[in-house]
Amino acid sequence: MWWFGAASGHPRVGHRRFAGPGRRRHGRDGHGSQPRGDSSRRHDAGTRCSGDAGSRRPRDTRSGSSTGRCEGRETGRHGDQEEEARQRRWLRRGFLLRQEVEGSMPVRGVGLGLRWALTEDILERPPPELAWLEVAPENYMRRGGRFPAALDACAERWPIVTHGLTMSLGGADPLSPEYLRTLAAFTKSVGTPWHSDHLCFGIVDGIALHDLLPLPFTRRAADHVAERVLRAQDALGLPMAVENISYYAHPPGLRPDSPREAEMDEADFARAVVEKAGCSLLLDVNNVFVNSKNHGFDARRMLAKMPLDRVVQIHVAGHDESDPDLVIDTHAEPLKNEVYELLSFALERTGPVPVLLERDDNFPSWEELSGELAALDAILRRAPTREDAP
Ligand SMILES: [Fe+2]
Repeated sequence: MWWFGAASGHPRVGHRRFAGPGRRRHGRDGHGSQPRGDSSRRHDAGTRCSGDAGSRRPRDTRSGSSTGRCEGRETGRHGDQEEEARQRRWLRRGFLLRQEVEGSMPVRGVGLGLRWALTEDILERPPPELAWLEVAPENYMRRGGRFPAALDACAERWPIVTHGLTMSLGGADPLSPEYLRTLAAFTKSVGTPWHSDHLCFGIVDGIALHDLLPLPFTRRAADHVAERVLRAQDALGLPMAVENISYYAHPPGLRPDSPREAEMDEADFARAVVEKAGCSLLLDVNNVFVNSKNHGFDARRMLAKMPLDRVVQIHVAGHDESDPDLVIDTHAEPLKNEVYELLSFALERTGPVPVLLERDDNFPSWEELSGELAALDAILRRAPTREDAP
């Protein structure tokens, strides 16, 4: 069972996980059964939003800009000027980050989501194509034992990128200062060059809903998410990327004349968020494919409309098509040919950004998983440089 919540200082977990078709698992490593103990990886958050923990591999992208504020904003002309300055600062930083990824940043090539079931094989039989690892901080924050130790061993050999699950960027609850402090310490400790979370909400009235739930594609919602991304970037002292999710019910918009219509499509919503927040996009190609099947749109057309100039990372995963009327994003199946093809289509437009394979359940043989990494690497190597992209 995927675990998150209490140990990371997040709101209480009072509901069972949403059991509908939207159920999706992230790094389900049986964490609920793991005791929490003292460890060198256990971080005391301190009192600053930007965190105090030492970094094993400090990077230029972390040089400080934290305002020390996790919530609230000033109003009036001075507040507007400050927000504009923040947006410009993060836009600049995101631009530099993308330039580095294209050039000399170590996070490039093909990566794999670090799951506890895979750790031993990763350390003992790494495929030559494996270039970096992605971790969910919620699976490690304030935890002790052998798995954080294994993460240390991995971090000695591969770049680590963090991908969060519980920021609830679209939620109405205030961002949790305690969560952000703990997350800041963790991201600093692993030296991630950016941190990502999802274009969704997952907490209501302090209760974690245990899922990534869709937002209305409206200007109001985009502004709300962008403002929270800016706060989170300030708190973490890191550039952020937001990920497009898979969703199974289309959220209504908020237009008074047509309350059931969204104001924009998913691509324009993603663009509105990243442009206002000055952040990057984590493009999940499989999510675009799954949504296109379930909601009846053209996957390539939607993907091409996404803010591809902002893509700093790509996700691919398997999905379940056993029900002819519903495709489910499971991360528990082999990659389908359609997803490989859509990845090629995306890379032709983004250039060779890092590609990550998400496999969370129903693990195949290590040889099969390594074969998928090799196939992804071959596709990525064919990607044109961004200057050549259409
Ligand atoms: Fe993803």
